[in-house]
Amino acid sequence: MLRSFFIALSTNKAFRAFSERSTMGRRVSRRFVAGMSVEEAIAAAEHLNAEGIEATLDSLGESVMQVSQAEESAAIYHQLLDEIAARKLRANVSVKLTQVGMDIGGHGAGPELAERIVGEMVEHAAMTANFVRIDMEGSDYTEATIAMTERLNARWPGAVGTVLQAYLFRTADDVERLIAQGIRMRLCKGAYKEPAEIAFPLKADVDANYVKLMKRVASSGVFCGIATHDEAIIETMRQFVAQTGLDKRAFEFQMLYGVRRDLQRKLAAEGFGVRVYVPFGTEWYPYFMRRLAERPANVLFLAKNFFRN
Ligand code: FDA
Repeated sequence: MLRSFFIALSTNKAFRAFSERSTMGRRVSRRFVAGMSVEEAIAAAEHLNAEGIEATLDSLGESVMQVSQAEESAAIYHQLLDEIAARKLRANVSVKLTQVGMDIGGHGAGPELAERIVGEMVEHAAMTANFVRIDMEGSDYTEATIAMTERLNARWPGAVGTVLQAYLFRTADDVERLIAQGIRMRLCKGAYKEPAEIAFPLKADVDANYVKLMKRVASSGVFCGIATHDEAIIETMRQFVAQTGLDKRAFEFQMLYGVRRDLQRKLAAEGFGVRVYVPFGTEWYPYFMRRLAERPANVLFLAKNFFRN
């Protein structure tokens, strides 16, 4: 119930405007957000790199409704790709299609605009030996996101990948579809609210599907991200590696900034690839609410820390 509450709150415009403007909101968001500026995000990536952990930088933003906002987002991503190359950071970038115009109506906007903007980012990444990950949003975008990733990968092979969500019934087929084209994928459980007609309603079923798909993608020969903080699943992956002799670097574990830092460091020390998703920027509200939805205990944690400070 709390999960649904926070997911619903994540799309509430009035509460979003209030929270993003307030000093208190910004302070609390720091639990999961690396900062408001490119400089703070780069500093977070440098810090992670120094600990043997890679980063994926995410300039927060989604559901933009103006072309100018989409172009502003794009400019930040080009700046990130330049900074990563100049500083030789071990980092790539993650972007959402609704952040670069997917939902904007009108001629030359919408999917066409999003594909042009992401295409330019992927081209930039290809030129700097880097990589763009297209995050996966709600199920209204699943097919369009996969299809766009396929077209972009055909033009710049290996410079783009996307995310598949284990809670969707269709994902087993999508895994095979991406493997067949050698497209890199991040496997996650899924962070949106989806109807029972298309997604497993029970967490136990999502977890079981995750484990099945994780073994398939990790041993497919296509490099993949195992994106979870679930210790039982991570342990299953460790055992799978030990039993099959799979190269520890055939995949990487991925976790979110501010979540299970202890586990991130431990896995890196064990020789596994670890990448942390580093979100930053002023548009932190929906991302932050989805993190509370995943673990409502975070609300208590935040409240305690807030009143202690
Ligand atoms: P689960 O939710 O079962 O949590 C397992 C344990 O992890 C919890 O018991 C708790 O200890 C810890 N934990 C999990 N979330 C926490 C939190 N917010 N705060 C503190 N502890 C927490 N989703 C999506 O739909 N599209 C996407 O593109 C992405 N991208 C993405 C990238 C990366 C790097 C990660 C790690 C995750 C995503 N996700 C995502 C989010 C993903 O779908 C999922 O909602 C969260 O990762 C939570 O699921 P877990 O797999 O961690 O398991």
